[in-house]
Amino acid sequence: MRNSRRGAVDPFIVMDVMEAARQAEEAGRHIIHMEVGQPGTAAPEAARKALTEAMTQDAMGYTVALGLPALRARIAQLYGEWYNLDLDPARVIVTPGSSGAFLLAFSALFDAGERVAIGAPGYPSYRQILKALSLQPLDVQTAPQNRLQPVPEDLRALDFEGLMVASPANPTGTMLNKDAMGALIDLCRDKEAAFISDEIYHGIEYEAKAVTALELTDECYVINSFSKYFSMTGWRVGWMVVPEAHVRKVERLAQNMFICAPHASQVAALAAMDCHEELEANMAVYRANRALMAEGLPKAGFTKFAPPDGAFYFYVDVRDFTNDSRAFAREILEEAGVAVTPGLDFDPVRGHQTLRFSYARSTQDMQDGLARLQQFMAARGFV
Ligand SMILES: Cc1ncc(COP(=O)(O)O)c(C=O)c1O
Repeated sequence: MRNSRRGAVDPFIVMDVMEAARQAEEAGRHIIHMEVGQPGTAAPEAARKALTEAMTQDAMGYTVALGLPALRARIAQLYGEWYNLDLDPARVIVTPGSSGAFLLAFSALFDAGERVAIGAPGYPSYRQILKALSLQPLDVQTAPQNRLQPVPEDLRALDFEGLMVASPANPTGTMLNKDAMGALIDLCRDKEAAFISDEIYHGIEYEAKAVTALELTDECYVINSFSKYFSMTGWRVGWMVVPEAHVRKVERLAQNMFICAPHASQVAALAAMDCHEELEANMAVYRANRALMAEGLPKAGFTKFAPPDGAFYFYVDVRDFTNDSRAFAREILEEAGVAVTPGLDFDPVRGHQTLRFSYARSTQDMQDGLARLQQFMAARGFV
């Protein structure tokens, strides 16, 4: 049967690593998971309770396309709590995860063939979703001295209709401060390019509060999700904030593409937003894990990384040990029983010399994983 060139996207390698880890577990091995980009914790207890109650009272049919009004209002309130911003709930659109928001944003902002700049390394699905929508991803090689975030000098000479940034970023965990983000927004304004900010890791930050693009401009799309800080990956609920003039257009796209984000997940998400104590307990675990990793990775010979400002990853340059991160990750899984992600997912050019280590699981797992990594590297004479 015929098929499209648009559909010929690359696999998400971390999913392949997860599958290899699952098979090893099925064969009876104990695997430490440093590959997964998701919390090991469940949705907050009050969120699950709220859904249990709602299910006894409500048929849980479609919601309106833009999302439950109470949830949109509560998300707008979060911008007051986190950034001291007064956000109109009418600009908030509830989406099926941030992944659903990417589809809506790219469809609303760009026509076929237009170019969207993305920093490499970066979250792989940006590139693949753009390709699947007949848009052109423009990989911009970011510099280690800029902590692998794009800067205007990387972009000035390029032609593009959109720029997508993430802060804190996946895989590096580095952030754009207000000046750095402002400079990118100014550049986009000069080039008449759309500015899209992926803020999915907001809330998971360690030294300074992450900056939202909305502190700097209303002329942007901001994308966020309940997946990470709110510990609700599988619930598939996120949100997007768009300029007032774009709401109706995005609403029409959302009506047709998704009808709505899952109703049950919206109910749970609303309750999750008031689970401060439980969510901060998760944060305490990430904070402890980050400190352990910052100390333990160098002991295992992994010294080349920018300390992450947020999220739950270390992105490590492993060029001293390999030119084939995929094979190296496979050996680490097979010999050390630790699943890690090769950098190729995030940077097709330089990713054969990098690995991403996630510290989203329990502190005990991180301790054991680091010990195994140290043993593996020592056995190879790397430390
Ligand atoms: C930077 C970034 N954006 C978006 C996503 C997708 O998240 P969601 O579960 O909200 O679709 C991820 C998932 O890992 C991510 O790392």
